[in-house]
Amino acid sequence: MLNWNELEQACLSCQKCPLAETRHKVAFGVGPRDAEVMLIGEGPGENEDLQGEPFVGRGGQLLDEMLEIIDLDRKTNVYIANIVKCRPPQNRDPLNTEQDACIGYLRNQVALIRPKIIVCLGRIAAMRVIKEDFKISREHGQWFERSGVHMMAMFHPAAILRDPRRRPDAFLDLKSLQAKIRQVCTHTY
Ligand code: URA
Ligand code: SF4
Repeated sequence: MLNWNELEQACLSCQKCPLAETRHKVAFGVGPRDAEVMLIGEGPGENEDLQGEPFVGRGGQLLDEMLEIIDLDRKTNVYIANIVKCRPPQNRDPLNTEQDACIGYLRNQVALIRPKIIVCLGRIAAMRVIKEDFKISREHGQWFERSGVHMMAMFHPAAILRDPRRRPDAFLDLKSLQAKIRQVCTHTY
């Protein structure tokens, strides 16, 4: 396991998969490194690739608005990262080979942060982090626990933008996250 500086340096210069050829910036992760809540997305899009930070485009703006409803903020109490740190061309889903190459960095981030709660944003992250056969439409908002870490998945912000009928479910999932934070976190609120 690498320390924060080693890990960030390794990611920023990484050439372990073909996404290194087309990326502009690596989106390593953002947020306080003592956060009790960690959010995991799928991979950088165009804005994230240009800025080197997860969730900074239109979806990221919606994510920030959703988090604010339950007093979460990447500047103070939530850490945000992705399964793959470099942008897949045309925003296609990251290939399994790319996820396999990159997932070690995320695991190292989780090991350093030791979050109490992990929230997966969308199906790709949920299938990697919670279980291989995760069904986002049926299982969003459900809590799973592994070695003392509470985990759930919510709809991806881009999926909510595509279909606003998902908003009421997203709101309920946020309220469930807020309740879980009140149960298990000591310095988030
Ligand atoms: N979608 C993701 O899954 N992650 C980002 O960082 C941006 C968009
Ligand atoms: Fe390395 Fe991950 Fe970027 Fe691939 S996506 S080059 S494994 S940091």
